[in-house]
Amino acid sequence: MELDKKNKIVVSCSPGLDIALSHELEGLGFEIIKADPKAVTISGDFNDVMKLNYMLRSGNRVLWHIASFRAIHPNHLYKNAKKIPWEEILKEDGYFSIDSFIKNKFIRDTRFGNLKLKDAIADRFIEKMDKRPDTGSSKDQAVVFMYWMNEEVELYIDTSGQSIAKHGYRKNPGTAPLMENLAAAIINESKWDRKSHFINPMCGSGTLAIEAALMAVGNFPGKFRTNYSFQHLKSYKASDWKNLKNEIDSEKEVNKLGFKIIASDNNRQALSIARDNAKFAGVDHLIDFKVCAFGETEIPDGSGVVVFNPEYGERMGEVSQLENTYQQIGDFFKQQCKGYFGYIFTGNLELAKKVGLRTKRRLPFYNGKIECRLLEYELY
Ligand SMILES: C[S@@+](CC[C@H](N)C(=O)[O-])C[C@H]1O[C@@H](n2cnc3c(N)ncnc32)[C@H](O)[C@@H]1O
Repeated sequence: MELDKKNKIVVSCSPGLDIALSHELEGLGFEIIKADPKAVTISGDFNDVMKLNYMLRSGNRVLWHIASFRAIHPNHLYKNAKKIPWEEILKEDGYFSIDSFIKNKFIRDTRFGNLKLKDAIADRFIEKMDKRPDTGSSKDQAVVFMYWMNEEVELYIDTSGQSIAKHGYRKNPGTAPLMENLAAAIINESKWDRKSHFINPMCGSGTLAIEAALMAVGNFPGKFRTNYSFQHLKSYKASDWKNLKNEIDSEKEVNKLGFKIIASDNNRQALSIARDNAKFAGVDHLIDFKVCAFGETEIPDGSGVVVFNPEYGERMGEVSQLENTYQQIGDFFKQQCKGYFGYIFTGNLELAKKVGLRTKRRLPFYNGKIECRLLEYELY
């Protein structure tokens, strides 16, 4: 594995986050080679791999390309995979697991494909080293990822292992929280410039406000994480990783912002959870928390964004009640948020019509399997 040479890197993401992820990658200086709904391809060296694992807010996993070949039978997979010098990549006294996405007519049960690949790697080790690493399903150590579509196999090292979509500060999710990667993507796709006010009424467990505060001070998700798959590879150098983190972290440390981040919710318990999560993320001193109905949320003079993630309503009774709420959000935007950009992230477009304002942009998203929109309103 040549770590200082540029190589293909695929960053996987939750469905539909490819646009936000592409923008985030471009912001970090990478050129997008290809973007699919669940993965974005770029090129970089292994230092970039570590950097991406540490810094990315909207990605899921960082995959380092190892080999591509044709296989029309599990035995072809075995034969080709065994030619790869795994003993230079994985530790003979270590541990690895296999993860895969397989769609072809040769393999009905993914586990069979995984087993063939595991056998190829283990047999190669025995032949070359007389010793082989342990294997199992845990993603806490080295992870080999196989993408086998029709006759084409691509093998990667999944350098993240456990997904980087969770940012590690949320000790209590509360009810109906946004995933951290989705919250970060929503903020990155909004017009917030990280210099003006960020207002998050109906904040629930505080994900949007906390992500905004982390961005404002330049704290990255890797700050809350101590283990990645790449740390279990043969080539891993703890000193390189430490230096890289120090270099990234040396550019920040802001204890006071020149603008406000405000989070409010009418549920006292939700707000207490939000406060605890913010404390764990080290940004509680940067957020003004208030228990109040959203209409009473302070909107400071000046400009910025007001971001709502109201409930969407799954049952009929709830929906008719929520019609009022959405209408009131529209009134709040009109009457109290002049000079701001207003946003509503929702999975219910019928309810969104009740807002009664013309949208400037409607950005498509998914929240799990639910098709959602981030609706943008320019509030003159
Ligand atoms: C879908 S949750 C928000 C989840 C949040 N984005 C998170 O990541 O945890 C909606 C929140 O709106 C709050 N809420 C509902 N009606 C409200 C109202 N009229 N005023 C203020 N907050 C309200 C609820 O208490 C709930 O916490």
